[in-house]
Amino acid sequence: MNRRYRKTIIAGNWKMNMTASDTKKYAEEMKKLMTRAKWCETVLCIPSCNLSTAVRAFKDLRISIGAENLYYEEKGAYTGEISAAMLKDLGVKYVIVGHSERRQYFGETDRAVNKKVHAALAASINPIICVGESLEQREAGLTHDWIALQVKSALSGVAADKLRRCVIAYEPIWAIGTGKTATAEQAGEVCSFIRATIRSLYGARVARSVTIQYGGSMNPSNAAELLAQPDVDGGLIGGASLKPEQFVEIVRAANQG
Ligand code: PGA
Repeated sequence: MNRRYRKTIIAGNWKMNMTASDTKKYAEEMKKLMTRAKWCETVLCIPSCNLSTAVRAFKDLRISIGAENLYYEEKGAYTGEISAAMLKDLGVKYVIVGHSERRQYFGETDRAVNKKVHAALAASINPIICVGESLEQREAGLTHDWIALQVKSALSGVAADKLRRCVIAYEPIWAIGTGKTATAEQAGEVCSFIRATIRSLYGARVARSVTIQYGGSMNPSNAAELLAQPDVDGGLIGGASLKPEQFVEIVRAANQG
């Protein structure tokens, strides 16, 4: 973390879990557990159908609400899709874009990710842009090339003054939901590489202002070590964000110091 230049952000990603009733219960639990966040911004990215419930339920806790996806067109005949303006109108502040599960199961391409980033920014929603390599790519020594490609295409055409509102989440695919966390050194190394990539595109001042998260089996016992890396400015947390007491522990780790 480097709190001087950029925000620390701990974000949960509930994926396809939790009903509206579960969401309210979770908020009640959090009211008992959560101490006021000193340094970090806390976000929960949740299923679209529960967003308005969550915006209301988490308001007093100062937890920002994020969506897990959006569609890039403004409006029209796109049955089942949800636009950035619709999310904004509900009070949504963040949106996950390009999660590896969406790339893998729903065919989300780098081009679609880039369009979604533009759509989110145009609606004043902060995109959390996910990038990450597979185990095969890592073993073949392709991690840097792949990550650079994903970062560059996601940010294509994004103006420098918008970068401060973009969050990059480094999520090695082999660490998501597997219980296999990247070591703090591995996570720190790739997050530094992401910052260097942004620096080569936008210069040092912009690069140091961007929040870069690590995601992939982050939990209360490894969070502090991961967050101690200078270029790891937060976490995107799946499994451990489903349990309020675990999520709060990670927020605590980000508030140390
Ligand atoms: P995990 O998921 O923490 O369950 O590994 C992280 C993510 O997919 O964002």
